[in-house]
Amino acid sequence: SKEGYPHFMIKEIHESPRAVKDTIDSLMSDIDLVEKVIEEIKNAERVIVIGAGTSYHAGLYFSIELNRLGINSLPIIASEYYNVRSKKGDLVFAISQSGETIDVLQGIRMMRNSGAKIISLTNVIESAIARESDYKIYMRAGPEIGVAATKTFTTQLASILFILSVLKKENLKKMEKAPDIVRDTISQVEGLTKKIGEELAKKSNIYYLGRGLSLPLAMEGALKIKEIAYVHAEAYPAGESKHGPISLVEKGFPVVIINDGELTELLQNNLMEMKARGAKIYAISVNKKMKDADVEIELQSEIPALSIAPVIQLIAYYAAVTKGYDPDKPRNLAKTVTVE
Ligand code: F6R
Repeated sequence: SKEGYPHFMIKEIHESPRAVKDTIDSLMSDIDLVEKVIEEIKNAERVIVIGAGTSYHAGLYFSIELNRLGINSLPIIASEYYNVRSKKGDLVFAISQSGETIDVLQGIRMMRNSGAKIISLTNVIESAIARESDYKIYMRAGPEIGVAATKTFTTQLASILFILSVLKKENLKKMEKAPDIVRDTISQVEGLTKKIGEELAKKSNIYYLGRGLSLPLAMEGALKIKEIAYVHAEAYPAGESKHGPISLVEKGFPVVIINDGELTELLQNNLMEMKARGAKIYAISVNKKMKDADVEIELQSEIPALSIAPVIQLIAYYAAVTKGYDPDKPRNLAKTVTVE
């Protein structure tokens, strides 16, 4: 049941703090599994991260972090698995909410046949992908009814960040705060995300720009508003935007800049370039303020990714609702994709 919420999507966004808490608790209580997975990651010659859609975005985030830590990692879009020549010594990290996405399954089968070991992160116990994995990690988001992934994306990020925290031998106190961080963000941004969603609903094209770890989040923001509000949105690495995309920008063209606080100065340059062509700038910034944005959501957060995730989801939700669409059932889409 929707428990008083108008749609499953908004109910599930509000369930994110609980979903993150259950997931972190479960990982804490199964720390042996996490340690074993980390051993495999450290010993692997290469960590191939595979997923589709939203799960690919979580995977890209993970892969960027692994590479930054000096661990050789290759992110792949599941349906493009045939481009990879995997071998013994490869470790595959498969991410799938449903655990049933056929492209992910095909990918892990191919790579297992060439000697790779498989780790899966899924939300469904003994899902097909989990059954075919050497190590099964589960998110504890609970069932997700809305077709658009929301609490499961936030939970994927929390799982990945937990694994990375253990890998980096960080104090896990920070991860224990994750549910409160998500909850606080949601309560702070409801008003502004609604305003931004209402404005973006009227547009026909949007750019979402990010850099570094905010790029996968920009990609997720663009996917979300595209799939449920039917607004064409494209994510770009902000620095790459001047190699072509900027030619579309004219007065009023909406540009959403995702700033997780790491590369603020570089993003500020991109903001100015866009603004100089008349773009309307919506900045979502964590820990570092941007200058000259038309609308800015400013957050303080110890875990920026977990604050940005609900913000981009709420913006998409309000855009869809403004246009009168049912965000739970976007046209042409199935919750689980079981055909290639
Ligand atoms: C987007 C969305 C899809 C899924 C994709 C993978 O909101 O839900 O892009 O993320 O179909 O599904 P799973 O994670 O079940 O493998």
